[in-house]
Amino acid sequence: MKTYICQICGDAYIGEGKPTECPFCGARENFIKIGKEALPILNQETPARNATLARNASHNDASGHSVAGGKISETDKKNLLETLDLELKANSLYLCMASKAKSYEIKAMYKRLAKVELEHAIIATKFLKIERPGIDAESCSEEEIENFNKTIELEDHATKLYAGFAKTAEDRNIKILFTALAQVEEDHIKLIKNYL
Ligand SMILES: [Fe+2]
Ligand SMILES: [Fe+2]
Repeated sequence: MKTYICQICGDAYIGEGKPTECPFCGARENFIKIGKEALPILNQETPARNATLARNASHNDASGHSVAGGKISETDKKNLLETLDLELKANSLYLCMASKAKSYEIKAMYKRLAKVELEHAIIATKFLKIERPGIDAESCSEEEIENFNKTIELEDHATKLYAGFAKTAEDRNIKILFTALAQVEEDHIKLIKNYL
């Protein structure tokens, strides 16, 4: 057994081999590292944070890595807040869809998607250094097909939004985060399309 760590959410997966996606945040295989090589993006020093860190050298550890303590740009902050909002909405919506599911498979699938989206929200709060806000209840259809279509619509919106955020990100690690998230949401579209 080995410990693998996701560069995006920082969670550890214990198993015989590397999973093809992070079981917690859904990041693709290339973001999953064997334990000793892992340095999750939330734990990394980034160019955008260097100025603050230079003034705060005592926080640097011997390896030159530092606690994530620098400032993020206004654009990145605004985009992370929009991400947080969207991910919490998706979490709530997918829990509603899980409650309406006609089969155990669909119920379990939506519960997993809800957890993945919550994980995305939590990553955003860690970058923003804020508490997780409360989650409002969302309504959804009694009809599974309508819920599948709404899921695809939401995931398509998220994919495009995050691809755009990745392009404009000023912080290198926030760019990596949005690149990974855009891929995860794109994978969610492929998942739902299997059911149509
Ligand atoms: Fe997400
Ligand atoms: Fe998603």
